[in-house]
Amino acid sequence: MHIDIISALPELLVSPFGHSILKRAHDKGLLDVRVHDLREFGLGRHKQIDDYQFGGGAGMVMMAEPLANAIESLQAERRYDEIIYMTPDGETLRQPLANRLSMYDNLLIIAGHYKGIDERIREEFVTLEISIGDYVLSGGELPAAVLVDAIGRLLPGVLNDETSALFDSFQDDLLAPPVYTRPAEFRGRKVPDVLMSGHFKNIEEWRLEQSLQRTRERRPDLLEEE
Ligand code: ADE
Repeated sequence: MHIDIISALPELLVSPFGHSILKRAHDKGLLDVRVHDLREFGLGRHKQIDDYQFGGGAGMVMMAEPLANAIESLQAERRYDEIIYMTPDGETLRQPLANRLSMYDNLLIIAGHYKGIDERIREEFVTLEISIGDYVLSGGELPAAVLVDAIGRLLPGVLNDETSALFDSFQDDLLAPPVYTRPAEFRGRKVPDVLMSGHFKNIEEWRLEQSLQRTRERRPDLLEEE
């Protein structure tokens, strides 16, 4: 999969993709993430990319022209399955959306900054708007990194144990069960006997029961949906 990200603060996106699972995805040739500096498409001598909003009000708005030029220069290279704008008023990111996006070949993500981007870019180019939750961050870079992580780990071959993403919280609308590793006893707290029993069927049943209990306690809304 190829993901392009347009950002006014590309430095913010250097580290998230250079470690752990996303690095492995990149090294295996499964995920190619490229970050493009919007400033390169800025206007005039100062490479301007933002301006005051019409009608007044605090905060700068990212201008249409630099964004349009950046998007069109990338579109000249490839056809995007979705052009995504990260914004608090978008569709909330949930596992099914990450699953759907992981099946595409080419995504373009716009990480907005300041007060937002000129509405006409949303009308003209954006095909999908995504929020990572009901809170406001200072820019779209961290949300873009969250989205890329959620998608990247789902790509076939990225996780060592290919089935492990299937057991994640939310894949079946259930939260994940508790997990333990050595030692078998820590400060008087013992690992549940069933996990030490080697009895696969009992372990599976215990995990499902724990998942259900945890979901009932913490996220009953997940059990009510549909
Ligand atoms: N930009 C600022 N806040 C955001 C959020 N919660 N989700 C996506 N993009 C954002």
